[in-house]
Amino acid sequence: MTEPTIKPAASKVLDRVLVLEMVRVTEAAAIGASKLIGRGDEKAADHAAVEAMRAAFNELWMDGTVVIGEGERDEAPMLYIGEKVGAAPGTGPKIDIALDPLEGTTITAKAGPNALAVLAVAEEGGLLNAPDVYMDKLAVGPGYPEGIISLDKSPTENVKAVAAAKGVEPNEIIVCVLDRPRHTDLIAELRAIGCGVVLIGDGDVAGVIAVTNEETTIDLYMGSGGAPEGVLAAAALRCVGGQFNGRLLFRNDDERARAAKWGITDLNKIYTRDELAKGDCIFAATGVTDGSLLKGVKIHKNGVMTTESVVMRASSGTVRWVKGEHRKPR
Ligand code: FBP
Repeated sequence: MTEPTIKPAASKVLDRVLVLEMVRVTEAAAIGASKLIGRGDEKAADHAAVEAMRAAFNELWMDGTVVIGEGERDEAPMLYIGEKVGAAPGTGPKIDIALDPLEGTTITAKAGPNALAVLAVAEEGGLLNAPDVYMDKLAVGPGYPEGIISLDKSPTENVKAVAAAKGVEPNEIIVCVLDRPRHTDLIAELRAIGCGVVLIGDGDVAGVIAVTNEETTIDLYMGSGGAPEGVLAAAALRCVGGQFNGRLLFRNDDERARAAKWGITDLNKIYTRDELAKGDCIFAATGVTDGSLLKGVKIHKNGVMTTESVVMRASSGTVRWVKGEHRKPR
């Protein structure tokens, strides 16, 4: 397993208290979105999660800046990139935030599996300011030699390398891929060498994290999805181990201009896990709908709502699974 590299004493900014506070924030977003599960309205579900997450952040003693958010200022009224959040601007710890209040808007609208409320926080400058473009992603779980996977290699070469290190045949390797027409060739190549391909409809943050959980039996994650989701997934892997490669994909000049705005000059660069999320960081997620990582929000007969969350910290490698019961204030 790749060991966390930051010792607790080295981290002064991310106070331990913030670890559990981050769960409050993702719980709030998940509960907000849960009222819209299966209601067929993606925008309303996203809006409810955004409002709830923003209100929860603004209760916290910190000087937070959204570095990956709902979009650029002119296209997102709340939790836009650059927005300051937290109750202690100028005085609290300076924290950079990557967030996705509702990862899986379509899933939520259709009551499908694996929708999450998710965030990662790091010390100032710790998270790549990824433009909202696609990213080619490749991930493997912990326990393999560093550099065993690379986006410079073909899918077949990566599968063969992982199979050899695992001591199995390539046709015993399971790969998770987003079910998209753009992945037709990738899926065909994987099936040609006999791999099991787990196709997911949406939600590649959970898809990437699945490689770290032996119960899923997923060995590798491959394919393209949102770059912001790539940074969030890299932050999670930084806490629990596993390797990640991400390369930004640009479809037009407008997207290349977005990259330039964030100071990205090498458009073909392959980012490793630690280049996407460096220093100490915290990753938190709460299930909105049931999934491989977490159960979703449940509303019980007595009005009590239950949530399941996970929160991880890179400096300590601690992973906490948190079950919440939420009652209306008396
Ligand atoms: P949203 O919650 O924004 O709908 O994202 C869901 C998602 O499946 C992500 O997990 C993934 O990175 C991205 O969409 C893939 O994009 P596309 O649907 O365009 O293939």
